[in-house]
Amino acid sequence: MGMYEPHTKEISRRNLLRGSALTALGFAAAGIAGYTIANMDDDGSPTANGDVPGQSVGPEPEGEVTTARSAELPPLGVSPLDLTYRIQDVTVDIAAGVKYNAWAYDGLLPGPALHVKQGDQVNFTLVNDSATGHSIDFHSARTPWDKNYITIVPGDSLSFGWKAEFPGVFMYHCGTPPVLHHIGNGMYGAAVVDPDPPLAPAKEYVLVQSEFYAKEGANGTWDADVDKMLAVRPDLLAFNGTAFQYRDVPLTAEVGEKVRIYVMNAGPTLFSAFHVIGAIFDVVYVDGNPRNPLYGVSTYTVAPGQGCTFELTVPEAGLYPFVTHSFAYTGLGALGVLAVGGATGAAEH
Ligand code: CU
Ligand code: CU
Repeated sequence: MGMYEPHTKEISRRNLLRGSALTALGFAAAGIAGYTIANMDDDGSPTANGDVPGQSVGPEPEGEVTTARSAELPPLGVSPLDLTYRIQDVTVDIAAGVKYNAWAYDGLLPGPALHVKQGDQVNFTLVNDSATGHSIDFHSARTPWDKNYITIVPGDSLSFGWKAEFPGVFMYHCGTPPVLHHIGNGMYGAAVVDPDPPLAPAKEYVLVQSEFYAKEGANGTWDADVDKMLAVRPDLLAFNGTAFQYRDVPLTAEVGEKVRIYVMNAGPTLFSAFHVIGAIFDVVYVDGNPRNPLYGVSTYTVAPGQGCTFELTVPEAGLYPFVTHSFAYTGLGALGVLAVGGATGAAEH
């Protein structure tokens, strides 16, 4: 499926950022070496990430992301859709050079983006190939928690069906206690349910925002740090699982093209203040339901566990960074770029 295929573009991040607005805003990392996601300010006061007294030292990106995960909305499935997710223990890159030991649906962090339409039937099977017990909870479904969202042990499986009754942008996640740990360790994904009738054609992207809390693990890898999760001291934030990946390999659109971004905030704890610098959303559909429109929005809150649909049209070529406007966290990795009309930064200045 398209969602899983990595895409690599021959865009040098330094060329992209040279002289661009990103540098002026301090996002650029002036080469990542020049702009560290500093663990301490010069005066020793703590910053948003983890290096405070009594807490473990966290990871920092090393270099650039060269291959970003595709953010394109995968094509619609058939109905009824037979869908199986296998839970796996995997090591994934949550930033350039940062290998993290995650629990993940189908080995992906975030899990596969699901795309169905209102009225579709999903016949779902969960298989636990992990070493610990897990479960799944689809926010897009109406189904009993005590029957279908139960924890299954390693080697076990669980099947149930659900109907996509409401259109929207929905989270799915593991609900096994402690849920903070299971979501914080990568067990989430987005489900986009198209409305009936469908929205107008657009360039469509899915972004899952989440935060990471890490302590040193074996062989240079990183493990979940539940103490930092409880203290809400993230080391990194990301769109689609890897910090800064769309700064280094931007998303693209054409001048005047309708762009629709499905944003799901997996948390586990932080709110997203989703904003595109230099743009205004023509419309935001709260929870992704077109019956909940808000017009002319600059920044909109996506709560942990929520998804929203953002539509914008950009009238002039250039670079348009997308961020969480919660600036203690932006510099930890919740920053990407929408390059419009072939803009690369270097060519623009
Ligand atoms: Cu789990
Ligand atoms: Cu939930």
